[in-house]
Amino acid sequence: MKSRFFAAALAASAALYGGASYATDLEVTHWWTSGGEAAAVAEFAKAFDATGNHWVDGAIAGAGDTARPIMVSRITGGDPMAATQFNHGRQAEELIQAGLMRDLNDVAEKEHWKDVIRPASLLKGCTVDGKIYCIPVNIHSWQWLWLSNKAFADAGVPVPKNWDEFVAAAPALEKAGKIPLAVGKQSWQTAGAFNVLMVAIAGKEIFQKVYGDKDKAVAAGPDIAKVFKAADDARKMSAKSNVQDWNQATNLVITGEAGGQIMGDWAQGEFQVAKQVAGKDYTCLPGLGVHEVISTDGDSFYFPKLADAEKSKAQEVLASTMLSPKTQVAFNLKKGSLPVRGDVDLAAANDCMKKGLDILAKGNVVPATTELLTEDTNTQINDLFAEFFANPSMAPEDAQKRFVDIVASAQ
Ligand code: GAL
Repeated sequence: MKSRFFAAALAASAALYGGASYATDLEVTHWWTSGGEAAAVAEFAKAFDATGNHWVDGAIAGAGDTARPIMVSRITGGDPMAATQFNHGRQAEELIQAGLMRDLNDVAEKEHWKDVIRPASLLKGCTVDGKIYCIPVNIHSWQWLWLSNKAFADAGVPVPKNWDEFVAAAPALEKAGKIPLAVGKQSWQTAGAFNVLMVAIAGKEIFQKVYGDKDKAVAAGPDIAKVFKAADDARKMSAKSNVQDWNQATNLVITGEAGGQIMGDWAQGEFQVAKQVAGKDYTCLPGLGVHEVISTDGDSFYFPKLADAEKSKAQEVLASTMLSPKTQVAFNLKKGSLPVRGDVDLAAANDCMKKGLDILAKGNVVPATTELLTEDTNTQINDLFAEFFANPSMAPEDAQKRFVDIVASAQ
């Protein structure tokens, strides 16, 4: 009697885990909760479940700024998840230094990550004292202006080809009842827009001097003053943009209520979910149509040290699954980002992704701010731009002075 019950229970659990006999549950935390992001992360879950293990989804709503402190405090507080998203670069620096994260050297060597992952800087960003602590899963870039073709048609003006034409079209858009520029109110979005304006308007050398070399004089100089002037235009153009989340702002572009949005290539996932077609329904201008330069930003997964040997083994399976050619293509096509390996077939990439690939191939790239600056400095910049966009009486010159102080004290 007892053994029959046991057999039935075993059969039920095998059915639950798709027939695998040793399914290991791994909780994976991330902040991918918009329509496009959820579709992309579901590809990871599907691929991991197909290995006979089980992805326990730990989505945290409210974007990275909300999610990261929760992730960090779970790890430092002794309640680690099995894997977690961070952006490429310095966000996990302190956790690694504290000895809380495991390295992936064995699997990286076995699978030749150093030969496979491109550009090489991505894996460098995961490496501390010769040990590899994360797996980069995509290359994405911030430097895009997404325009609604409908909004411009309604306003009776041509779709702009660059930032200046966009600014010039703002009065016509307003007259037609549109919000010229949709910007979500979270601080990372306003700071992100400023950083994009910096690369587009001042160029990549100035960006590198300010954020790479922390050059105070350049931050205080005329090139950055021009960027603050453009940020002032962006502030005026977005005065009626009353949304919080980035994907709500993208939705204003999708419906044609707003003319455009400055946002990373993950916005593409939203256009895809809404079945919009690049070139027909919307237009994408990399580098705001001014300097076609993109950043090699992106997401990586890190793996806290776990006491459970089985889970530790499954962490390696997860890392390897995320990098497999098939998963890389499936995930990145839904996400709107680019794979971290060059040996995959991207024939299905849409027009905007192809533009991104082309710019990448030419080497017109800048590092991510998350690689150049600490989380602390990025937070100070976020705070400054949240205030600048919320307070129309803050003069661009005053904001620039505060910016110079932040750059001067950055590590
Ligand atoms: C970034 C993340 C992107 C995208 C974006 C908006 O930090 O790297 O993949 O999801 O946030 O949530």
